[in-house]
Amino acid sequence: MVQCTIHRRADSTAFEAKSASRRIALARSSRGVTRLAVAAASLLLSLEAAGLDVGAAESLARHSGCNKCHAVEKKKDGPALRDVAAKYRDDEHAEDKLIKHVTSGEMVKFDDGHKEEHKKVKTQDLEQTKNLINWILSLQGGTKY
Ligand code: HEC
Repeated sequence: MVQCTIHRRADSTAFEAKSASRRIALARSSRGVTRLAVAAASLLLSLEAAGLDVGAAESLARHSGCNKCHAVEKKKDGPALRDVAAKYRDDEHAEDKLIKHVTSGEMVKFDDGHKEEHKKVKTQDLEQTKNLINWILSLQGGTKY
């Protein structure tokens, strides 16, 4: 009889412990912190998997004068880089097209209607240019133009 009571107590303690830890887990995920951390980590992983060097891409853009007409977030004379990514999201030739765009000096039209040769990247290294283009294409949250 005595043993039985002890058993039952032990069981209910274990049950309470389990449901308490479930409550903590729920509270954590509802705060969103865990989910955010997981999302950030997987974004970093996917950038690394794509072999991107974000620092090198940004520095090549700066060095080549791209920032005069482009920003990641907002439109300047040229489209916002996030929007370039959105426009080319479903285009399997995006990389080739955009490499050509930033290396060949093709004519581009500005909002005021005038045309001029598009600026070229200041590097002869195709890998550096690819890295820049793939960084642009990896940007999320843009809209098509
Ligand atoms: C003098 C202004 C100017 C500079 C500097 C400039 N761009 Fe542009 N860029 C434009 C304009 C204008 C367009 C829009 C062309 C169009 O839609 O036809 C454009 C379009 C683009 C596009 C999208 C092309 C497409 O097919 O939609 C990319 C990518 C781009 N530029 C990258 C760069 C990079 C990288 C650099 C630096 C090497 C750079 N741009 C420098 C004005 C500029």
